Amino acid sequence: YNHVFGKGKWSEFDPKDLLISYNALKVLEARYLLKDPETLRYIETPQMMFKRVASYLAKVEQDKNVQQDAAQKFYEIMSSLKFVPNTPALMNSGTRLGILSACFVLPVRDSMTSPSGDGIYDTLRAMALVHQQGGGTGFDFSELRPKGDVVASTAGVASGPVSFMKIFDVSTDVVKQGGKRRGANMGVMHAWHADIEDFIHAKTGELKDVQLQNFNISVGVYDYFMEAVMKEEQVPLITPRKTKIPGTDHEYYIVKARNYMREEWVQEEILRELEEKGSVYLDESKIITVDEALAIAEKEGAVIRWVNARTLFEQIVKGAWDSGDPGLLFIDEINRRHPTWYLGKIQATNPCGEEPLLPWESCNLGSLNLEKFVKERDGTPYIDWDDLANTIRYAVRFLDNVVDANRYPLPQIEQATKRTRKVGLGVMGLARALIKLGIPYDSVDAVYVSYYLAKFIYYHAMKTSIELAKEKGSFPAYDPVRYKDVWESARELDEILTISGIRGKPSDYAKKLMSEAEKLDVTVLKDMRLKYGLRNATVVSVAPTGTISIIAGTSSSIEPLFALAFIRNVAVGKFMEIDPLFLEYLRKYELDTPDVVKKIAETGEVGDNPFVPKTIRKLFRTAHEVEPMYHVLHQAAWQQWNDSGTSKTINLRSEEPADTVEKVYMTAWKLGIKGITVYRDKSKSQQVIYFGLKK
Ligand code: CDP
Repeated sequence: YNHVFGKGKWSEFDPKDLLISYNALKVLEARYLLKDPETLRYIETPQMMFKRVASYLAKVEQDKNVQQDAAQKFYEIMSSLKFVPNTPALMNSGTRLGILSACFVLPVRDSMTSPSGDGIYDTLRAMALVHQQGGGTGFDFSELRPKGDVVASTAGVASGPVSFMKIFDVSTDVVKQGGKRRGANMGVMHAWHADIEDFIHAKTGELKDVQLQNFNISVGVYDYFMEAVMKEEQVPLITPRKTKIPGTDHEYYIVKARNYMREEWVQEEILRELEEKGSVYLDESKIITVDEALAIAEKEGAVIRWVNARTLFEQIVKGAWDSGDPGLLFIDEINRRHPTWYLGKIQATNPCGEEPLLPWESCNLGSLNLEKFVKERDGTPYIDWDDLANTIRYAVRFLDNVVDANRYPLPQIEQATKRTRKVGLGVMGLARALIKLGIPYDSVDAVYVSYYLAKFIYYHAMKTSIELAKEKGSFPAYDPVRYKDVWESARELDEILTISGIRGKPSDYAKKLMSEAEKLDVTVLKDMRLKYGLRNATVVSVAPTGTISIIAGTSSSIEPLFALAFIRNVAVGKFMEIDPLFLEYLRKYELDTPDVVKKIAETGEVGDNPFVPKTIRKLFRTAHEVEPMYHVLHQAAWQQWNDSGTSKTINLRSEEPADTVEKVYMTAWKLGIKGITVYRDKSKSQQVIYFGLKK
């Protein structure tokens, strides 16, 4: 099947396969390597898989020479495990299944079916099609009228959004993704919705481990809401029933006017534009103020009742402490930092939060393995910036080609996706890269490294996207003037540290290490972009890399090491893992005896064991040992140089109080993070990874 590399042969031993760890091989054989449908025998090795993917994505190139070069380079960056694309691209490239992207957001309108294909049951069907091929879906359910509201056509009463979510959940159970993995969903409800309390409690208390098990849920909150929480003020809960705004020709939804803060910032944006360019993009009649929106909602009988924002927030915090759900999405922040904001407002994200998307948009992801770019010279570690920049160039070209090679399950998805050509280059292996650099995850140095790695990756990804625009044209909805550059809203590292309350300056060692990234002037990209255009509306995104980090044999995403030894519970069985890097260190100190390893495996961490050298204790602090605020800081650092989202779990110790969740949620909002999720150890009965051996 392989036009560039020739037909792969089983008999040929490829030494590159030695890079693949045992666990990676188990995962690959269970789900990724192609089998003959008749005999069920494997028909490819890992290297053959990478070649299949590389040649399939290279085929998009028109020029034969470019195609040859792309295929070779794509293969090189994957087989060296420096870059791995998201699961659907690995599984489906060159096969009958056509989805290569992991992330989708689908609209849900307040009707059973709709001619535009976005009624409740239309969307249910769309979800099934996406899940069938391994994609994950996110929805904002806020436009659905609340429980008990009128249904004009039947003179009955509505069941409310949470009931409909249950149908989506059952359907997800039934349609196992590609027959290979369970579907994942994000359900969003905005904090102004009349059913918000039902939503907040949909997965906690008695319903924990019972209801909506295929959903992550997040409350969409706005600045006005968070400010009301701090001031303990009342906020209105609204029914989004369809209604007209008096004095306009437009049929309009309260649901659009529902959130006054949001309308206010759009207005600001437009006014600024009017000043700058003397032209209007949105119909002025659609601009209403906070007070107008609320007055309309009240007049229309849309305000159901008022609640104390603080009380609502406490329920959210308690739920998250109890079960990990709900998380928060900061809707204003997402839209303030939405590069193509002029196409509409974002209301939801994909399942793990790394992709805030417009309705029907999808995005394909891929991640750089940071560990591979930490090298050693005369015993001193350094970051190979040239190798990293070069890998980014081909990774972004790869991801851009995915947009064209994708076979979309619905025309609306194809249209929305090709309009912006969003791609998401992320990272994995941060924790291990830091260990190799000798920097503890919970230190100012580490946050500093995160911040400037993010900046370097963003710079080169963006530069590549501009070069691709020069070669192939810009994304269709590109508007050079209205497009919003990331650095307009990127916060300085000092500011982030100050807000978090953590003090300190990076060491000279860290500064020297990162000087290459620190000196980059990102603003030069603007001139380039104005001259040549831009190929992709977004270029980076930090995904969880749940499976591809196992394939690459590194730590996941930007997370700290989870445990130094643990049992991993995945679809194909249970694995016990001892971190190889940790073992290496133990060896250095001649501590790699069975007794010591067994002892550590009992808890998964070295803790403050006085017999373990201090260096090891500091470098190998695990997810539950790291102070929650350092988790948040890493997420904030990566979010600043990110035109999409940053997926992260703030892992908490089992005994952590609810106050910590509150502090984490509040600080995340102040730091300009787009969404936040916590998970307290052992708070659910089913957990993917178990800590240690005995528990
Ligand atoms: O490592 P891998 O490429 O398999 O995926 P990930 O980085 O852990 O997750 C990326 C995205 O894939 C998620 O945010 C979901 O949109 C989607 N996903 C899914 O649909 N179903 C799963 N079981 C896991 C991930």
